[in-house]
Amino acid sequence: MSVIIAPSILAADFGNLQRDCEMVNNSKSDWFHLDIMDGVFVPNISYGMPIINKINEVATKTLDVHLMIIDPERYIETFKNVGADILTVHYEACTHLHKTIQSIKSNGMKAGIALNPHTSVDLLKDVLNDLDLVLVMSVNPGFGGQSFIENTYEKVRNLRILREKSGSDFIIEIDGGVNITNAPKLIEAGADALVAGSFVFKSDNPTQTIEDLKNC
Ligand code: DX5
Ligand code: ZN
Repeated sequence: MSVIIAPSILAADFGNLQRDCEMVNNSKSDWFHLDIMDGVFVPNISYGMPIINKINEVATKTLDVHLMIIDPERYIETFKNVGADILTVHYEACTHLHKTIQSIKSNGMKAGIALNPHTSVDLLKDVLNDLDLVLVMSVNPGFGGQSFIENTYEKVRNLRILREKSGSDFIIEIDGGVNITNAPKLIEAGADALVAGSFVFKSDNPTQTIEDLKNC
């Protein structure tokens, strides 16, 4: 199966949001990646429900929502209502992570856990079989356009081993600083899905850039 490509709308032109969403619809990408930041869990605020609603109206592909907010369980139903298909919460932001995962699934969405660069994949051992996706942050969350952290390859390899040992089948997604140079190495290490923001939207031809990533 070819790698899943999820362009991050954070890097889109918000003055031309519909145009950029239609570009994603008409490209070889698989998902829309939506980054939600609360200014508390991460030192940045992104966008909220009115924008997500608008994206949902235009988007014809899976909405992959990445919550960088504290206590995300408060908003699970709200994100379902604005069209999230996959809802990913941060390991570091949840006190009752197992309960949060169950709640995402009982609201009819796929459930993911995101790990900050310093958080070991080993900490997921007791919930691996409950997950649909693990998002490995390859930058510190909060901003697009940062440099890729090289230790990510090792994390992805370890996560793949854990997945094999546990007999689970979650998707391994990588987020931050992804480009055409590190994408093949990430796929070789075990990545199933790649988020790309700046590399896609700041390129001369985003549609072609998505296709290049897809063909890695
Ligand atoms: C960062 C976000 C990323 C970001 C990726 O906190 O989670 O999804 O948009 O952007 P690039 O690809 O520019 O690093
Ligand atoms: Zn993200």
